[in-house]
Amino acid sequence: MYDFSPDPDRPKTEIYAELASAAAAIVDGERDGVANMANLAALIWQFVPSLNWAGFYRVIENELVLGPFIGKPACIRIPLGQGVCGAAAAEGTTQCVEDVHAFPGHIACDAASRSELVVPVLSDGKVIAVIDLDSPDLARFDDDDVSGIEALARIASAAL
Ligand code: SME
Repeated sequence: MYDFSPDPDRPKTEIYAELASAAAAIVDGERDGVANMANLAALIWQFVPSLNWAGFYRVIENELVLGPFIGKPACIRIPLGQGVCGAAAAEGTTQCVEDVHAFPGHIACDAASRSELVVPVLSDGKVIAVIDLDSPDLARFDDDDVSGIEALARIASAAL
């Protein structure tokens, strides 16, 4: 039904612009948050190379609860403030971690993960979820990845 074919040789900023358009199109008119998160996780997986995990955690009653994702089975509940996801949710700020082994309290769901990018999804100024990307490569994520996934989080905000 949806056939998005990103060209991996294009500049990253163009790939992220294409990801944003695909994301806006795929959630357009759909009000089921689980369906939208599942499709957005699939799009991240399709557009962003060198990942071993991509998906959502939702803020539910002072903790993060696992949402739709692609990758190995992961920790289901994470207290706010714990790990990289918990820090992003508690502070409402993007966490771009070059080496997860050097991040105090990092929660290792997949031992292969070496770097991680977590972006909060905000609604009316409150964190309602986070988007979590893990990579087996050290320092996988740069400023282009941060802006690209932050743009995706803005699209996700109205779709959850
Ligand atoms: N590493 C994360 C936990 C979630 S998994 O990576 C999917 C953390 O430290 O919050």
